[in-house]
Amino acid sequence: MDLQNKVAIITGGSGGLGMAAAKAYLAKGAKVAVFDLQEGDAGALAEANPGQIKYYETNVTSEENVAANINQVVEDFGAIDVCINCAGFGPSAKTYSSRKGPHPLDQFQNVINVNLVGTFNVLRLAVEKMSANEGEEKGVIINTASVAYMDGQKGQAAYSASKAGIVGMTLPIARDLAELGVRINVIAPGLMGTPAMMAMPEDFRQGLERLVQYPKRLGQPEEFALLATQIAENPYLNGETIRLDGAIRM
Ligand SMILES: NC(=O)c1ccc[n+]([C@@H]2O[C@H](COP(=O)([O-])OP(=O)(O)OC[C@H]3O[C@@H](n4cnc5c(N)ncnc54)[C@H](O)[C@@H]3O)[C@@H](O)[C@H]2O)c1
Repeated sequence: MDLQNKVAIITGGSGGLGMAAAKAYLAKGAKVAVFDLQEGDAGALAEANPGQIKYYETNVTSEENVAANINQVVEDFGAIDVCINCAGFGPSAKTYSSRKGPHPLDQFQNVINVNLVGTFNVLRLAVEKMSANEGEEKGVIINTASVAYMDGQKGQAAYSASKAGIVGMTLPIARDLAELGVRINVIAPGLMGTPAMMAMPEDFRQGLERLVQYPKRLGQPEEFALLATQIAENPYLNGETIRLDGAIRM
C-alpha cells in the first residue's frame, strides 16, 4: 500500500510507540487519527500539521465510543485504510504472593480487556469502513504484541496472556478478511527506548541493554514506526508476527 493520502487510525497514538508511528505516517503523506485516553503530544503534532492529524478521545474498550469515533474519522478524512493498535499497558502482579495473596482477578480482566478485547474492538469496526474502499487491497491492520507473548517474566501472567491472544487471533483474522483484501500483521517489540523507559535509572537501563544481542541497546520508537510503515507497504506480508527485539531472549 502506498501510504500517500491514506488514512491511518493509531490507538495509543499519544504514547511512545504510537506517537512515533504517527510521525512516520505523516512523513509518508498519510493522514492520522489518534485514538487515545489522553491527548498528550498529539495536540502539538496536530497544530504543527494542520488537517493531517487529529486527536479523538477514545477508550478502546468501549463499543459506542470507538464506533462513534470511527464514523467521525470517515467524516473528517473520507476513509480508513490502516488500523494500528498500540493502546496497552502491563501492570505487574504475581499469580500468588505470600505477602499480597492471589493475583487480583479484576486486574487480570482489565489487562485482557484493554490489550486484547480493545484491539479486537477497534479493528473489527475499522474493517467495516475498509470494506468500502476502492481497489483490490482495501486495508491493513497492524497490532502490537510484545516478546512477552512468548517470553513472559514473573508478574506478567495477564500481560503475556493478552499479548499471546493478539498473536493467536492473527491467522484466523487474516483468513476472515482475505476475501475483503485486508491484511493483518503483528509487531512484537522487545525492550524499546520510549520516553517512559528512558526515564528509568541509568544502571537499570544498562542492565536491560545487556540482555540484547545486537545492536546492544534498547530499540528506538522510530524503528517500531519504520516497521509499521514497511508492513503497510509490503503487499505480500500477511498473518505474520514479527519480533523487533535485537534477538533478545528474556
Ligand atoms: N515500550 C516497550 O518497550 C514495549 C515493548 C513491548 C510491547 N509494547 C507494547 O507497545 C504498545 C505501546 O507501548 P508504549 O511503550 O508506547 O506505551 P505508552 O504507555 O507510552 O503508550 C500507550 C498508550 O495507550 C493509551 N491507552 C491505554 N489504555 C487505553 C485505552 N483503554 N484506550 C485508549 N488508549 C489507551 C495510553 O494513554 C498511552 O498513551 C503497548 O501495547 C505495549 O504493551 C511496548
